[in-house]
Amino acid sequence: MTDAPPQDAAAIRDAALDALERAGSADALEAWRVEYLGRSGRMTQVLRGVAQLPPDERRAAGAAANEAKTVLEQRLADRRAEIEAALAEGLGADAIDVTLPGRPAPNGRYHPSTIVMREIEAIFRGMGFQVAEGPEVEWDRYNFEMLNIPKDHPARDMFDTFWLDANRDPDGGFTTLLRTHTSPMQARIMEAHQPPIRVIVPGKCYRYEATDATHESQFHQIEGLAVDKGITFANLKHTLFQFARQMFGPETRIRFRCDYFPFVEPGVDMAIEWRGDWLEILGAGMVHPNVLRAAGYDPDVYTGFAFGMGPERIAMLKYGINDVRHFLANDVRFLRQFR
Ligand code: PHE
Repeated sequence: MTDAPPQDAAAIRDAALDALERAGSADALEAWRVEYLGRSGRMTQVLRGVAQLPPDERRAAGAAANEAKTVLEQRLADRRAEIEAALAEGLGADAIDVTLPGRPAPNGRYHPSTIVMREIEAIFRGMGFQVAEGPEVEWDRYNFEMLNIPKDHPARDMFDTFWLDANRDPDGGFTTLLRTHTSPMQARIMEAHQPPIRVIVPGKCYRYEATDATHESQFHQIEGLAVDKGITFANLKHTLFQFARQMFGPETRIRFRCDYFPFVEPGVDMAIEWRGDWLEILGAGMVHPNVLRAAGYDPDVYTGFAFGMGPERIAMLKYGINDVRHFLANDVRFLRQFR
C-alpha cells in the first residue's frame, strides 16, 4: 500500500499509451503490463489511491481511474493481437511446416563393377584366397618381361599399351606404362613372398584401343594365383568350377579350350554356359616355368596356376548390359539400376 498522493489517471493513461506503441515484442508487452497494470503498477496505484480521497471526490476519481484502466487493458489486448499477427506473417514467409513428411535424401549405389568384384572376391576368400592390390602405373619389367614377354616378342601385340614418358631409358625407349592386365602382380607377389601362395588381385587395367560396345580403354580384371608344391591343372579346374557354380548357379557348366598366353603353359580360356551359349569369361593356365624362374622360384619344386577375368564382362552377362561403355559413362539412369 502506498501513501503517495493520488496521481492523475489521465496523465498516466497517456504516458502508458505512448509506451505501449513502442513495445514491439511479447516481452516488451509483458514488461509494460507489469509497469502499469501489475499488482503495484502505476494505474493500479491510482485506483488504490481513490479510497484515500475525501468522499465527495471519490466517485468521479474512481470512475476516471476505472475508465483509464479499461482503456489500457483494451489497448494491451489489441497490441498483443497485432504483434502475434506480425509474427505469424514472418513465419509464413519462410514457411516450415514441421508436420510434412521428410523428403528422402537420394541414396548412393554401388557401381555394377564394384558389386561383381565384391561378389567374386567373397567367393575366392571362401576358398582361402587372400586379396591384394598393386600399381596401375607399372614397369615394363613386371607387365611384360617377367611374364615371359621379352622386348619385341610378338605377344606384345596382344596388349595395346599406353606408354608413359616417365623413366625413358638412355636410348629413349619406354620403361613405364599403364598396366594392360593385372598379371604383373603375379610377378610382384612371387618376388616378395614364398609359397604357398593363394591370392586374387582386383584392379584397373588400361589398353590403348578404339572403344566399341565390347572394348573399353579402361576396365577391371581380377587376377588369381596359386603356387605351391604339387599344384596341378586339376586344382585350377576345380577352383574355377567352384567359382562358376557360386557365381552363376549350381547347374552351371564350364568349358575349357586351349588358348595362348605367354605366361602360362598350358593355357586355356574358360567359358560358361549361359542361356544356351558358351561365353568366355577368363583366361587361365599353369604358371610358365620361365615366370616362376624370373621370380626366383625353382620350377622343379613349385608349380602354380593363374587366371585373369574381366568383371565388366561378367556384369554384362549377369545384368544383360549390351554395351561396355555404359560402365564409365556416369549416366545415373544406368547407375541407379544396381544395388
Ligand atoms: N592377363 C591375361 C589377359 O589380360 C589373362 C590371363 C591371366 C591369362 C592369367 C592367363 C593367366 O588377357
